[in-house]
Amino acid sequence: MLRFFKKKKKSHSSKSERYFQLKIKEVRKETGDTNSLIFEWPDRSFVYEPGQFLTLILPIKGREIRRSYSLCTSPYKNDNPAITVKRVESGIVSNYLNDHMKPGDIFEVMEPAGHFVPELIEGEANKYVMFAAGSGITPIISIIESILAVETKSHCTLVYQNRNENTVIFKERLERLRTQNPGRFEQIHVLSQPNEAWNGYRGRIDQAITSDILMDIAGNKIDRCTYFICGPSGFMATVTDTLADFEVPEKQIHKESFYTGDPKPQPSTEEIPSEQEISVKIHLDGEAYEVTVPSNKTILEAALDQDIDMPFSCQSGLCTACRGKLLNGRIKMDEDDGLSEEEINEGYILNCVSKPTGPGVEIEVG
Ligand SMILES: Cc1cc2nc3c(=O)[nH]c(=O)nc-3n(C[C@H](O)[C@H](O)[C@H](O)COP(=O)(O)OP(=O)(O)OC[C@H]3O[C@@H](n4cnc5c(N)ncnc54)[C@H](O)[C@@H]3O)c2cc1C
Ligand code: FES
Repeated sequence: MLRFFKKKKKSHSSKSERYFQLKIKEVRKETGDTNSLIFEWPDRSFVYEPGQFLTLILPIKGREIRRSYSLCTSPYKNDNPAITVKRVESGIVSNYLNDHMKPGDIFEVMEPAGHFVPELIEGEANKYVMFAAGSGITPIISIIESILAVETKSHCTLVYQNRNENTVIFKERLERLRTQNPGRFEQIHVLSQPNEAWNGYRGRIDQAITSDILMDIAGNKIDRCTYFICGPSGFMATVTDTLADFEVPEKQIHKESFYTGDPKPQPSTEEIPSEQEISVKIHLDGEAYEVTVPSNKTILEAALDQDIDMPFSCQSGLCTACRGKLLNGRIKMDEDDGLSEEEINEGYILNCVSKPTGPGVEIEVG
């Protein structure tokens, strides 16, 4: 039996390992407001797992801007890694990537990261149910293709929410997957504003539609399936609440958030006397740095102010690019959605939303 384990986090990845130059091979239009960027394979050290994302570092209008994009390809199947970017109204990076990218363009990315990853075991026969909405399909299709390629006895159902038939990303690719994997992959589309001829589910995914679909596809085995969910926060909450009603154990539910819709978490001053500055020791790339963190800054902000080359992307506690391990002392984290319970118990923290609450804090990053 061949096991495909999650890639172990390197404890001291060096700077050159953490960054890659990616060259665009092809730009492909997926829908009216979504393009895929397909990359040449950078070098042999570039490895990723299904469901992981890249952090792009882009110089836009004289500023360095970072954003995360999930790899929409399967490392078990596709030759060239790719991302798919959907325009966000007035969004700086999503519109830039849709308007200006062309074959041959090169930009810098951080190494693939993220924990929205299945643990695949060859020969296993599992039942997976994926819930995606809009651009949330990107990590999900990577996971589906990988499951179908590795666990050849497993079954996947995709439940995919979109506005109408024209906004379904990867429509042909999903249909191809269905015909190439008879009896192993099925897709259920839920459209909020479909054409009149549409005879599938209509409306927005709510608890009633979710329960209906679950009863239909899994019957009395709902609590034995493994779930992957990616979409807007309201959609994810609806699906998660419904799964809780069916008593699905939390460890069988995997979630990835692109955007919460909430304002960026503001560093809290609770437990931290104002005006107080606390010194924090950060271990990064084999070096140790002393960083002075004022009460109105996060550990990441303070380290960047001191020109320390910390990894980061969303700065909202979602992507985990800034993850570190607390070796000593106490911190306060304002948002921990990006971390699993297991990681929190192991002492992992997100530096972009964490502040020290007392002396002696020591963190290992990488
Ligand atoms: C782990 C991870 C993986 C991601 N993968 C993908 C992916 O595969 N494909 C993809 O298209 N996006 C993905 N995203 C979202 C992406 O990183 C950006 O947030 C998104 O492209 C918007 O960036 P922007 O610069 O265009 O918008 P900004 O300039 O940052 O924001 C413009 C406005 O839009 C709002 N906004 C920001 N993001 C969103 C959003 N996602 N939905 C609705 N409103 C928003 C902001 O609050 C602001 O008002 C991912 C995010 C994370 C954290
Ligand atoms: S930078 Fe994304 S979680 Fe901290």
